[in-house]
Amino acid sequence: MTRKRETWKSHWGMIMAMIGTAIGLGNIWRFPYLCGKYGGATFLIPYMILLFGVALFAMMCEWVLGRHTKRDPLGAFDAIKFPFGRDIGAWGIVGPFFLYSYYIVITSWVLFFVFASLEGLYFGKDTGAYFASFLGSKWIFVVHFIAVTITSGILAMGVQKGIERACKIMIPTLFVLLIIVAIRSVTLPGAAEGIEFYMRPRWSGLLSVETWIAALGQVFFTLSLGMGAMLIYGSYLKDEWGIPMNAISVTLGNTSASILAGFAIFPAAFALGFGDVIGSAESIGLTFFVLPKVFTVMPGGHLFGGLFFILLAFGAISSAISIQEPAIAWLKDEVGWTRKESAMFTGIILWLMGLPFVFNGFVKGGLSQKLALLSKMDIIIGQLAIPIFGILAIIAVGYFMGNRGLDEMNKNARVKLSHTWVKFWIRAVVPIFVGLLFVLSLIRILQDNRIIPTIIPAAKDIAFTPIGITPTTIFMIVFISLIFWGGFAYTTIRVLTIEKDKRRRTSSGLHHSR
Ligand code: ALA
Repeated sequence: MTRKRETWKSHWGMIMAMIGTAIGLGNIWRFPYLCGKYGGATFLIPYMILLFGVALFAMMCEWVLGRHTKRDPLGAFDAIKFPFGRDIGAWGIVGPFFLYSYYIVITSWVLFFVFASLEGLYFGKDTGAYFASFLGSKWIFVVHFIAVTITSGILAMGVQKGIERACKIMIPTLFVLLIIVAIRSVTLPGAAEGIEFYMRPRWSGLLSVETWIAALGQVFFTLSLGMGAMLIYGSYLKDEWGIPMNAISVTLGNTSASILAGFAIFPAAFALGFGDVIGSAESIGLTFFVLPKVFTVMPGGHLFGGLFFILLAFGAISSAISIQEPAIAWLKDEVGWTRKESAMFTGIILWLMGLPFVFNGFVKGGLSQKLALLSKMDIIIGQLAIPIFGILAIIAVGYFMGNRGLDEMNKNARVKLSHTWVKFWIRAVVPIFVGLLFVLSLIRILQDNRIIPTIIPAAKDIAFTPIGITPTTIFMIVFISLIFWGGFAYTTIRVLTIEKDKRRRTSSGLHHSR
């Protein structure tokens, strides 16, 4: 278990790379569409509870497994003697293939929209119809092929320095652009209804099992958990970085981007007359026909649209790379292939696996028919498979690594977690709670396969502040901003200062001992 492994170069670079694998389509495409489907803030509440109560612990456990064993998912589960470790760990290699197969198709839409925005192809058109016609055009084949070639090409060359260095530039820029687009969206006339929809919880929706299951899938998806990616990236962590605080910083940083994406999309969707799309089967395409509409009404829309989709493409590609990487690491480390061979082989398989989603765009009908296969796959993988594998990492650390795992979690951490408390949480609370959610969801599926309808508030009837939104919404905005944006700034500055202090102390210690 003391294998040598490459590590991230700098602490800031590691945080940006971790946020880089986490931030992607999950934040800017999946989060807003699920949030829309399950009633805005009604979805946000289970999302936050599961983010801090379950996903944060799953991320720490994947990092523990990765850093302790310094192996790919298959090797890691095997190394800690998890029952059927190799078979279960194999999901961490094979499962991401199913995810990648449709993830890269959406990435290819993003690539096309970079070009379409810069060229102004959808300007002055019905953006919904434009998106539907793109899905059934020859361009989809071209961009799909390009997207697979890009990820496989980068992986063939080796990723670490590339990803770490690129993320240091891409992620802060992505935030700046998201803020600009969100400001434009919330200042559009009629945006209040969207803000109200996004931020005001309808408490009755909290009793819906579907909402909780969708939120559970999303917290795992967005943090790249249960797909081998965080485990592999965790295996590149340096020993001197304490896991808990860094995990909190990455969790908050990633979610800040999702929250911003919601502010970029919902106010604009309502202001520009797309309110009825929210919650419908077509809402899976929100990013590709609502945001383009925002760009058409923005000064410099071509440029902003182009830049926005370029950055989304970077986010998507840096995530897609991390989803393809576990298989490559396994072929390279355990089967003995070269990195180039592994990248080319996985690239071909993944390209073939994506074709059904591409062909689905050619069926007759509206967006919901053209996106049907992709939405089904996203439910199977995003809502079921990923959380199951993510939970296995928690069980692996809780039951099979025991104190070894918790020591690894607390190694060199300034803020240490109590063994008793963490053990109780990851051994009992998380598995029971998540297990219960799965059972209830299964019962519901067997009963009537029902999805709750989205409840869109009539803002005019309820808004009674001068800016047209309710006090509850204002409270939620302040609360969420403080937790995510404030919390991210605080924890990141803190982990970086702690490390600086450590370095200062080490160098002054060396100085004294001379
Ligand atoms: N975490 C990655 C995303 O959200 C998979 O896109």
